Amino acid sequence: MLNIVVLVSGGGTNLQALIDAEADGKIKHGRISKVIASRSDAKALTRAANANIDTAVVPRKEFENDEKFNEALLEELDKAKPDIIVLAGFMHILSEKVIQKYDKMMLNVHPSLIPSFSGKGFYGLKVHEAALERGVKITGATVHFVNEIPDGGEIIVQKAVEIMPGDTPETLQRRVMEQAEWKILPEAVAKLCEERDR
Ligand code: GAR
Repeated sequence: MLNIVVLVSGGGTNLQALIDAEADGKIKHGRISKVIASRSDAKALTRAANANIDTAVVPRKEFENDEKFNEALLEELDKAKPDIIVLAGFMHILSEKVIQKYDKMMLNVHPSLIPSFSGKGFYGLKVHEAALERGVKITGATVHFVNEIPDGGEIIVQKAVEIMPGDTPETLQRRVMEQAEWKILPEAVAKLCEERDR
């Protein structure tokens, strides 16, 4: 059984998809043992508590810079002894130290078909705003390994989603979540756990 730690910053709907998949027996070789949030008001913390999952908060705004934030985050991660770390709506770029220590152990879900609308500055609703502005007809979501390039690590799975006339960033975000993210993230986590549980 692999020890899964999930990093979150906000609503936590992707975390919820992981919690539900585990409860439904779809993640047979892994267990979410801890959720670490970068904001104390993240709704994801309530979702974790409702599922009796241990939580920790490393509040970004209370650290003077990214380096100090990453040091505190690394301490929390080390304490949790993860086999796999899932970035599920985690809105910060991790330091080289964190990335190197957990190389090939960290997955991220990104709400576009990478390399479109990805990299520094593309997160959350901004990704969907950019896709609508560019006028693409197809977007989607990507699960990838985390490396030192933002959204640049090896791609594990992608799923395409159609853009509809009249879409707003909000309606598009919702469709990408429902049709892609909430499916491919639990599937990728289940598969990786199975492969590594030996
Ligand atoms: C999701 O769409 C996720 O892909 C995106 O933020 C949203 C978080 O929603 N993540 C990024 O943009 C990371 N670069 P959630 O908190 O409800 O899972």
